[in-house]
Amino acid sequence: MKIAVLPGDGIGPEIVAQAVKVLTALKLDINMTEAPIGGAGYEAAGDPLPDATLKLAKDADAVLLGAVGDWKYDKLERHLRPERGLLRIRKELNLFANLRPALLYPELAAASTLKPEVVSGLDIMIVRELTGDIYFGQPRGISTLENGEREGINTMRYNESEIRRIGRVAFDIAMKRRVNGQKAKVCSVDKANVLETTELWRQVMIELSAEYPEVELSHMYVDNAAMQLIRAPKQFDVMVTGNIFGDILSDEASMLTGSIGMLPSASLDANNKGMYEPSHGSAPDIAGKDVANPLATILSVAMMLRYTFGDEANAQRVENAVKKALALGFRTADIWTEGTNKVGCAAMGDAVVAAL
Ligand SMILES: NC(=O)c1ccc[n+]([C@@H]2O[C@H](COP(=O)([O-])OP(=O)(O)OC[C@H]3O[C@@H](n4cnc5c(N)ncnc54)[C@H](O)[C@@H]3O)[C@@H](O)[C@H]2O)c1
Repeated sequence: MKIAVLPGDGIGPEIVAQAVKVLTALKLDINMTEAPIGGAGYEAAGDPLPDATLKLAKDADAVLLGAVGDWKYDKLERHLRPERGLLRIRKELNLFANLRPALLYPELAAASTLKPEVVSGLDIMIVRELTGDIYFGQPRGISTLENGEREGINTMRYNESEIRRIGRVAFDIAMKRRVNGQKAKVCSVDKANVLETTELWRQVMIELSAEYPEVELSHMYVDNAAMQLIRAPKQFDVMVTGNIFGDILSDEASMLTGSIGMLPSASLDANNKGMYEPSHGSAPDIAGKDVANPLATILSVAMMLRYTFGDEANAQRVENAVKKALALGFRTADIWTEGTNKVGCAAMGDAVVAAL
């Protein structure tokens, strides 16, 4: 297994070092090579995605990324900014499926702004299509009409094959998440009552579901889904939706948990090659202080083992080690509460390794 390790900027190097520690402790046959991206890429090679980094990522089976960005690069020309490196690598690797779990360990239920009984034990997976929809559809732009008034246009567009391939990712994940023979659930989110694009989305999801008799498919309009995520989030298992709805719902769902330092993510291509990264950014305000929470990055490693390497046993080992470290009372500053043991980034990594 070849993994490209791209720590990036800010807290990236600190949190990635902990994830690498955990991967190493698993004693798997893994070859890890590090390369710069984002501001670090700009410093090293004048490019937020240096050619050598892109080649390494393309040759690897999976990419482990920290985060990119720092305020000190905000004055650079747009194409040199760290975030550009991130957008380009996602595009170059054809990562069309974004997986964002929203998972709340019972020990951390107090961190949510919702009542503990509403969110405790929450475990949702949001599958968002990443390369189509109104964000990419043509025509687009701002033009001036004959009467001198300006008009803005964007186009919502999906073809059948794009819908089918993201649907397949969602159904396959639902199958993998099934526990004790329970029926898996996929909720497809659309606005089929108003938008033809999503009427087609719904038709294709229904057609596809015939291939997955073990999975219960339901449909929900996006406005209702936004409400249900706050009202009763535990009703959901896997949610699948298009790019723009997914953008909004995945951020909403991640905040149900109240702790940004806990949330991993994966972006997959058609062959389950993936890029794995925490959902948060580079947190320049706390970089270099050994206070960042490395658990989102460590949990991203668990996703890598599960989705790219098909190694469910080790994925669970890592997740259970995180649970155990939390149960033993270890907390970084962002999730610390009275009566628990406040530790730094490296010590939290050590606690997870010890729990393995
Ligand atoms: N995927 C990415 O690489 C990504 C995503 C979002 C933002 N960014 C970049 O990150 C930089 C900072 O952006 P921001 O401040 O809006 O978002 P951020 O996610 O970096 O930070 C938001 C807040 O959460 C805290 N935080 C984030 N991760 C944490 C962790 N693991 N442990 C403890 N606390 C944590 C930060 O200290 C900060 O107070 C910007 O340059 C932005 O462009 C990168």
